[in-house]
Amino acid sequence: MACLMIQGPARMEGSIPVQGSKNSTLPLLAATLLCKGETVLENCPALSDVTACCEILRSLGCRCVADEGKIAVNAEDVVTSEIPDELMRELRSSIVFLGPVLGRTGRAELTFPGGCEIGARPIDLHIAALKKLGAVIEESGGRLCCSAPQGLTGADIVLPFPSVGATENIMLAAVCAKGITTIKNAAREPEIVDLADFLQECGAKIGGAGESTLCIEGGRPLHGAVHRVIPDRIWAATFLSAAAATGGEICLTGAQPAHLVPVLPVLEEAGCRIRCTYDTITLKAPAVLRAVSPVRTMPYPGFPTDAQAPLMAMTCLARGTSLFVENIFECRYKHAPELLRMGANIRTEGKVAVVEGVRRLFGTRVCARDLRGGAALAVAGAAAYGQTAIEHAELIERGYESLEKSLSAVGIPAWME
Ligand code: UD1
Repeated sequence: MACLMIQGPARMEGSIPVQGSKNSTLPLLAATLLCKGETVLENCPALSDVTACCEILRSLGCRCVADEGKIAVNAEDVVTSEIPDELMRELRSSIVFLGPVLGRTGRAELTFPGGCEIGARPIDLHIAALKKLGAVIEESGGRLCCSAPQGLTGADIVLPFPSVGATENIMLAAVCAKGITTIKNAAREPEIVDLADFLQECGAKIGGAGESTLCIEGGRPLHGAVHRVIPDRIWAATFLSAAAATGGEICLTGAQPAHLVPVLPVLEEAGCRIRCTYDTITLKAPAVLRAVSPVRTMPYPGFPTDAQAPLMAMTCLARGTSLFVENIFECRYKHAPELLRMGANIRTEGKVAVVEGVRRLFGTRVCARDLRGGAALAVAGAAAYGQTAIEHAELIERGYESLEKSLSAVGIPAWME
């Protein structure tokens, strides 16, 4: 078990580059499976989930070499359609291999994915959509056996909910299908746009990425490409929340301010001054933060569920009452009891959390229960009086590359034990 130690209270200050997006890198790695020739992804974060995806690619027969943020994949020789159970369980995003394995080999055999325990994470939308494209899918004993006896054929798909994972899986299968696929009520997240951009660089034809209706012309051969992964908007939101909570001033470089449109107004409402250029975000915190209007998590361009926990840690120190409504996952307030141990005042009931701001938080021993909840404890720890020890920091490492080094680089003493 890894333990992240933070010595507070400290003030976050300085300039730091935003890490590459984890939630983009994982589907992009799955997409490389469809390219004949070498693909290079740049700006990949060094995270356990990324390593696991590289292992999945190798298990399928690809050559995959990771070096200093660059991952080179050669998918010329895919030798199997089966992903080992132990790799599927490593991360939730392993399910995004279903569409491309099926599209590339005509078959896919895998088990249900693992990942953080933040609520039921069904894959019914993925399965129903792939069936519409002509896949035959049998499920038994937690195992999925998929085949496409007649090959995949384009179809009109209407998603009942704009699921990010399902949209990615459909896109990856549809580029291999004969004919045109439309996805109505598609997810509009920046990671979807990044995936569409990459597939187009490889020779695919996709229209409408970032809008509610996506149109994919399938059946075109895909070649390799060099692609730079977008910056991680959740990493950026976490550091902005920490700068705000610690009364700090930070400049994020290599950022995409447009991806943070749902988050920046909330920080401004709390009293932060924010300035953006095309690729930097500077935040200056006020002496005392103000509570914010209700924050409701929603599909993009709504407030991201992944930024809810880090922002909540900030509001613990804001004057007044802030309200959160978590609409995406059921069990996403696991950080609340841990923040209470640090002196916060939070009540949760179902989807709702009510945060009454307190003047101070205090460092103590707490436990990360999931990735973003763990990051929230780091935000609180930076502002808290005394030492905070966050157990199970390996969960945080799923999404933040060497968080202790990044925090230390901007004035927050942090180390791993
Ligand atoms: C979600 C987030 C995404 C984030 C990712 C990683 C949303 C909309 N999605 O994506 O921004 O980057 O977590 O933390 O905020 N669902 C079904 N059946 C399915 C698939 C999903 O019912 O087959 C439901 C889920 O239970 C959940 C909702 O749809 O309530 C969102 O799921 P989805 O967008 O698919 O989740 P992720 O792809 O994990």
